Parts: sequence; structure tokens; C-alpha cells
Amino acid sequence: MEETRLLRLLFVTSLLSGCTHQASLKISPHSSQLFSWQSVSLRCDEDDSSDGWTVRRNTTKTGETRTQCGADWGEQAGSVCNISYTFPSDSGVYWCESTGGAASSSINITVTGGAVILQSPVLPVMEGDDVTLTCTTKTSNLSAAFNKDGSFIRTEPTGHMTIHHVSRSDEGLYKCNTISDGESPPSWISVTGKPTTAPPPDSTLLQLVFRLLLHLVVFCPYCISTVIMVSLYRRRSTGNDLPVSMEMAPPTQAEQGLADEYNDVMAAVTTEHHL
Ligand SMILES: *[C@@H]1O[C@H](CO)[C@@H](O)[C@H](O)[C@H]1NC(C)=O
Ligand SMILES: *[C@@H]1O[C@H](CO)[C@@H](O)[C@H](O)[C@H]1NC(C)=O
Ligand SMILES: *[C@@H]1O[C@H](CO)[C@@H](O)[C@H](O)[C@H]1NC(C)=O
Repeated sequence: MEETRLLRLLFVTSLLSGCTHQASLKISPHSSQLFSWQSVSLRCDEDDSSDGWTVRRNTTKTGETRTQCGADWGEQAGSVCNISYTFPSDSGVYWCESTGGAASSSINITVTGGAVILQSPVLPVMEGDDVTLTCTTKTSNLSAAFNKDGSFIRTEPTGHMTIHHVSRSDEGLYKCNTISDGESPPSWISVTGKPTTAPPPDSTLLQLVFRLLLHLVVFCPYCISTVIMVSLYRRRSTGNDLPVSMEMAPPTQAEQGLADEYNDVMAAVTTEHHL
């Protein structure tokens, strides 16, 4: 009964997940910080284009909310949205939204009027991964100093800093500094935990076998004693021709005990079958 209910639930869930479409926002160039006067292309990667996904944004400097690409800014063609020339006023949070109101996860974009940008992962980083931050000026990658939450980390002569095996403590607001061109805007780097891995099928099978063994070990004595009881009773009633007086005699204490035990066993076995 419970199994069929579970199966029905699974079936409904898979149907539902098949009906709700997903999209993710991709940005090119792949950077969450951009210079002014750059062109940028935003694309909604969707699993079904019939849903009509468009790019929307909330800007930080002008306070626009949920404005739509094509209608309020940029040019939308299909699921692609282009901005030909970026301005600091384009800084904000961007996401894809379907006509049905479904939304993708969002990305932060910062456009600077300055000469230095920090190129960092656009999406949250998985715990344990390596992350490389690049400090870029309009002209080249120079020696740069990297900061996290206002504290100096280290200077990298190439302008690249790699953080190995990121952990939650690496989450924070990063900036870079160059001597010649000044400082980049800050970018928030978020770190997400590794998805908890489901126990391998081997161990669930092992658990099942263990439970089965446990049941057998617990119930075997009952089963065996039941079989013994039944055969004893049978032999007594059919095997020998007992005198009537013996049959009528009140049961001895031992016999009474056995009968009680037999009843207990029967009760235990019946309750187990109801489980
Ligand atoms: C955009 O702004 C609206 C209105 O303030 C807010 O409800 C929504 O959560 C914002 N979206 C994102 C992705 O920050
Ligand atoms: C958007 O930009 C991409 C890359 O720059 C380009 O290939 C594409 O034709 C542009 N699309 C529109 C609608 O402007
Ligand atoms: C955007 O930046 C804000 C703070 O600057 C941060 O709290 C938020 O998590 C960021 N969102 C994403 C999607 O990175």
C-alpha cells in the first residue's frame, strides 16, 4: 500500500519536473566585471525555447527593478540579449525570466568607469575547487595586489591569483590593485557546499540484507518452536490412542506452559504479518 503511494508520488514528481522548465543565464565575455564601452552578450540557456525567456535586471546605481531587455535597455533577439556599449549604470543583478514567471539564478554584473577589473567566477564556486582571480587593466595584465574584505592577501607579478581548494572561509568581497591604473571594483565570491552524495547503492543493499538477517535471527526461534509445537500437538492427538480419562485430565503445569507459549508465538507471528 505504502509502496504504491510512493510510486505514485515519484510519478507525479517526475511529471512536474518535466513540466517546469529551467534556464540559466550565460554571460560573454565570461566575467562579472566589465569596462565601460564594452559590448556584452547575455544568453538564456533553456531546455525549452517555447517558454519565451527574457533577460531582466535590477540596477544598483539607478534603482531600476525588473526592467526587461529589449523593452527598457539592450537588444533582445530570441533568448539572447546584447548590450552594445556598457556603462557603470548597467551595474546590477541580472537573471532570465520566462513568460510564465519562472526565474533563473541571478548574476551580479559590475561595469566600471575605471581602468582595472577583477575577473572572478560569475557563479558560486564549489567547495574544494580551485579558483583563479585575474586582475586586468585595459592594456595588459600587470603585477597586482589582491584584497579580500579590505585586507591585503598578496601581490602576484602576473596579475593572476589562484586559491586552491576553496572553503567557506574564502567567501567574501575581493578587489585588486595595480600601481599604474588603480583599483578594480569589488566582486563578491560565494562558495557553496558540495552537494551531499547519496549513499552508494551497495550500502543500501547491504542494509537491506542486514535487516533481512536481523528478521530471520529474531524470528527463526519463533518459527522453529512453532513448527515443533504443531508437530507435538499433532503427534499427541493422532499418533497414540490415549485413554479418555487422560484426555479429560486437567493439563499438567508443563503442558499449560507450552500451550501458553504456543499462543504467544502465534500472537507474535500474526502481529508481524500485519506490519
Ligand atoms: C529585483 O528587485 C525586486 C524589487 O525590489 C526584488 O523583489 C527582487 O528580489 C530583485 N531581484 C533580484 C534578483 O535581486
Ligand atoms: C549579440 O552579440 C553576439 C556576439 O557579439 C552576436 O553574435 C549577435 O549577432 C548579437 N545579437 C544581436 C541580436 O544583436
Ligand atoms: C551579488 O552581490 C551581493 C553583494 O555585493 C551579494 O550579497 C550577492 O550574493 C551577490 N549575488 C550573486 C548571485 O552573486
